[in-house]
Amino acid sequence: MPDAGKSEKPYAPRPLWYKDAIIYELHVRAFCDGTGDGIGDFRGLIHKLDYIQDLGVTAIWLLPFYPSPLKDDGYDIADYTSIHPSYGTLEDFRTFLEEAHRRGLHVITELVLNHTSDQHPWFQEARSSRNNPRRDWYVWNDTDDRYRGARIIFVDTEKSNWTWDPLSKSYYWHRFFSHQPDLNFDNPQVREAISDVIKFWMEMGVDGMRLDAVPYLVEREGTSCENLPETHEVLKFLRRKLDEQFPAGMFLAEANQWPADVRPYFGDGDECHMAFHFPLMPRIFMAIRLEDRKPIVEILQQTPEIPETCQWAIFLRNHDELTLEMVSDEERDYMYDEYAKDRAMRINVGIRRRLAPMLENDRRKIELMNGLLMSLPGTPAIYYGDEIGMGDNIYLGDRNGVRTPMQWSGGWTGGFSLADPERLYSPVVSNVQYCPQAVNVQSASRSPHSLLSWMKLLIRVRKSTRVFGRGSIEFLSPANHRVLAFVRRLGNETILVVNNLSSSAQAVELDLRNFKGAIPVEMSGGNIFPRIGELPYLLTLGAYQFFWFKLRRI
Ligand code: NOJ
Repeated sequence: MPDAGKSEKPYAPRPLWYKDAIIYELHVRAFCDGTGDGIGDFRGLIHKLDYIQDLGVTAIWLLPFYPSPLKDDGYDIADYTSIHPSYGTLEDFRTFLEEAHRRGLHVITELVLNHTSDQHPWFQEARSSRNNPRRDWYVWNDTDDRYRGARIIFVDTEKSNWTWDPLSKSYYWHRFFSHQPDLNFDNPQVREAISDVIKFWMEMGVDGMRLDAVPYLVEREGTSCENLPETHEVLKFLRRKLDEQFPAGMFLAEANQWPADVRPYFGDGDECHMAFHFPLMPRIFMAIRLEDRKPIVEILQQTPEIPETCQWAIFLRNHDELTLEMVSDEERDYMYDEYAKDRAMRINVGIRRRLAPMLENDRRKIELMNGLLMSLPGTPAIYYGDEIGMGDNIYLGDRNGVRTPMQWSGGWTGGFSLADPERLYSPVVSNVQYCPQAVNVQSASRSPHSLLSWMKLLIRVRKSTRVFGRGSIEFLSPANHRVLAFVRRLGNETILVVNNLSSSAQAVELDLRNFKGAIPVEMSGGNIFPRIGELPYLLTLGAYQFFWFKLRRI
């Protein structure tokens, strides 16, 4: 990551930049309103770039900001190559990009390629007549009984993956909302059109793209219509086109699947550079509740190796529900019981809550979870607002409760907008524990002991070495199961990470004979611990405490 700061250093992304990145996910609409209309926009975001830089993250991932009827918060795109008028203009976006780059921040945008909005002109043409040249850009059928093997994803709203189009008197295929018809990737024109979209944004200077909903690009009878070989061919095609022109570009796959099924999305380093590790996320929550390391260790041991140029992206929370698709039925029941007792907290197959409320605002748990996020293998992604411990509003419908305005200061709109609070695109969180008066950037910045200040320290320590982003992981197996201990290594650097997953103090004996003679240096304070010898290494940890040690060999 070039430390461009605010200097005039020219911006040039290094290859593999994503391996050392720390991603900050945000929604333009929710971040800062620069025009006073109650809706966040690029002007507001530009104004807040210093904050993002100061936090220490190195990449911004933007949720969809394109023209859209906003029935799926912008994942229903009506025009791939311009900006939703509420958020600004292409010129504003260019300025944002320049300003982000000037601060050494990479920019990742959304490529929602599986489907468009039904308002997209492509779909409007396709449905206008059965002979329209764009007809075949979508997936049509006279009956609604094809591809029965495909599950329904949005089970709370959709009854079928087919919807009747009264205009062209046939059914169209959609894996998500019925207003989001799936594109037909068997049609080479569609692949070319999407490749042009990639080119449009990469040429402008975007550094990477999150590929939304990639498992569902192609349909075949008699299959689940997920992860098909033909889907991988499409991705390889798009990657070839990317590499030809933008070798430092990056694709990040959203494939909510088991690790073995995600593995092919990396190909031989010729498909996606990154992919989210979905199954790990609920298991971190499980491990802390069970006070047992097993769920984390098991899933990481089942995670296959990936090509040298590839990287997992890991996260605790994002803009969607905390998905529970990649757990067993028993584990799902456990997660619902422990984290979503109130039914309003549940949606589809998951939990619509933010990090702090899920952890009962327990600062020690919030720190431990973030410590895991920053030390387990992969590139971490932080969801906006979680760095200050923002709350949610589970009564706002769909997933809107975790997409409320960023809380900058203690006023009625949380410093998000100069508009009247009633005019905001969404109410700010108003309960006493999490309202802007209680949780906001301004007061958190003033206190060296706030969660925000602590997060900055954590990020700084994480960035002090490349081991976390690039190193190997080996788990230790101490008798005390409440302790998760692992070693990260890269070249001749070794880091020992020890986490107490439980709510009470724990002692642990670690077999560190392989590191005999080394001195553990605690990384946040730089203090030296006793030299490692032959005997088991004894550590005591307070409730939810964790240590990162650099093992110094002298
Ligand atoms: C995945 C996105 O993360 C989610 O927010 C969206 O609703 C679906 N794709 C459908 O577009």
